[in-house]
Amino acid sequence: MKTGKLFKILMLASVATLFLAAGLIASTCPDIIPMENAAYDSHKKGIVQFTHGKHYKDHAIACGECHHDAQGKPLADLKEGDAVQGCIECHKIAGEMPREVKQEIKGLSREEKQKKELEYHAEALHMNCRDCHKAYNKEKGFKGKDGAPTSCTACHPK
Ligand code: HEC
Ligand code: HEC
Ligand code: HEC
Ligand code: HEC
Repeated sequence: MKTGKLFKILMLASVATLFLAAGLIASTCPDIIPMENAAYDSHKKGIVQFTHGKHYKDHAIACGECHHDAQGKPLADLKEGDAVQGCIECHKIAGEMPREVKQEIKGLSREEKQKKELEYHAEALHMNCRDCHKAYNKEKGFKGKDGAPTSCTACHPK
């Protein structure tokens, strides 16, 4: 092997290590992201094909609406080519909040409840995706199957 090639491989390997250490997933900006997070043992629902590119190109949603920092503050300067952290880095528990836990936190304030909910990956994703879709449909007067998807099967194919 030529040293040049070996150097390249080592460089790539160290970059990959840096990425992993910071929990960065990738810096390429795919148009479609299959939402199949590796932290799950298995997915109960069909895998959501997230139209990532369409969201910022066609639906004109700023990167910072979905990508934020460790304080939850929108990453206002994010642009294509920048690396991001996976949502699971901070919303660490795979799945939705179990019923027992919901029961346990019943007495907490709204804010404290949301904080607990946000520890769960699927709750954070649902809050991000579905809450925007609901607000958007309401604003535009869309009902039923029109507008942005809000039903389980509209996002999770059977
Ligand atoms: C509507 C929400 C939303 C918008 C807007 C958005 N993203 Fe994302 N982006 C996501 C989600 C969700 C993921 C998947 C993260 C995960 O799997 O943890 C992601 C993943 C990524 C990834 C990693 C890709 C991969 O291979 O996994 C990059 C890089 C990225 N986004 C950059 C951007 C940039 C730059 C913008 C603005 C130009 C942007 N995103 C706009 C929600 C969004
Ligand atoms: C570096 C850590 C970190 C990463 C990565 C991260 N979040 Fe968060 N997120 C937070 C923090 C901190 C808050 C604020 C929590 C609170 O108020 O208790 C938050 C809040 C939220 C909220 C509540 C509403 C809001 O916007 O304030 C949603 C929804 C959310 N995150 C979804 C996501 C999604 C989707 C991703 C991946 C695209 C993601 N988060 C990536 C740390 C992170
Ligand atoms: C800030 C608002 C916002 C967020 C956050 C958001 N969406 Fe959307 N989404 C939209 C809008 C607007 C449309 C287009 C609705 C229409 O066609 O009228 C849309 C459409 C879609 C569609 C239909 C295909 C398309 O792109 O037109 C899918 C699937 C979808 N969103 C999935 C998701 C998923 C999964 C997430 C979370 C990872 C998400 N969205 C987060 C606003 C949002
Ligand atoms: C707007 C799109 C959207 C809608 C609507 C939606 N989900 Fe999800 N859901 C997601 C995304 C994105 C994830 C994250 C999956 C991942 O990253 O692995 C998720 C994750 C999940 C998970 C954890 C992963 C798994 O498959 O076990 C469950 C369970 C789930 N959703 C159930 C539901 C149910 C039940 C409904 C209807 C009440 C629903 N979802 C509606 C987008 C959606």
